[in-house]
Amino acid sequence: MSPLGVPVNQELRLRPAVEADAQLLRAWRNDPETQAASRNTDVVGPEEHGAWLERVLADPDRRLLIVEFDDEPVGQIRFDRTRGYSYEVSLSLDPAWRGRGLGTRALRGGCDWLWMHTHAVGIKAEVRKRNEASKAVFLSAGFRPAGGGEAGFLRLALQRPEPWAPENPGRTTEEITFTE
Ligand SMILES: CC(C)(COP(=O)(O)OP(=O)(O)OC[C@H]1O[C@@H](n2cnc3c(N)ncnc32)[C@H](O)[C@@H]1OP(=O)(O)O)[C@@H](O)C(=O)NCCC(=O)NCCS
Repeated sequence: MSPLGVPVNQELRLRPAVEADAQLLRAWRNDPETQAASRNTDVVGPEEHGAWLERVLADPDRRLLIVEFDDEPVGQIRFDRTRGYSYEVSLSLDPAWRGRGLGTRALRGGCDWLWMHTHAVGIKAEVRKRNEASKAVFLSAGFRPAGGGEAGFLRLALQRPEPWAPENPGRTTEEITFTE
């Protein structure tokens, strides 16, 4: 937003996270709703979080992206490689930006980003059964129940769109811009 509250750039963007995002990421992680949605529900202190972020940024099997809307950071999407070319996704938005449809748009864009930047063939999500907003977002982005999952969680999965090749990365949405 501009100082007058006028939207300056309504574009949705994704970019890789950097160390300077630490404070923001920790605030999002410790937001009570996000905490309640996570498998690890502890509050994370600055040192523990700093060490975690350093490890994530140095690990080629983990891709942490910042979602920006209207030139403001509004959330994060993380993909962790679990085995082979399978990844697990986690998504959270700043509380001020929830409930406006950004979650679905950001998740669709994030999956496209992963198809384009890695050899991923599938993405899974473990969503708490009582997290209605999260279930709705994943289903809207094409994820489907995959069976299994921990107690209280629903496992959802998405396959890379076919046919796929470097020249046809399977992009499903053009409404989100990728920047470095
Ligand atoms: C989950 C989250 C990313 C969803 O993003 P969002 O932008 O708020 O969601 P949207 O506005 O795109 O809404 C998605 C859908 O959920 C529905 N929804 C939103 N809040 C809801 C609620 N409390 N109960 C039921 N449905 C809800 C919306 O109506 C919408 O439905 P539609 O697709 O049929 O229109 C966001 O709420 C969030 O960051 N939550 C905390 C962290 C979290 O739970 N992460 C997921 C862990 S797996």
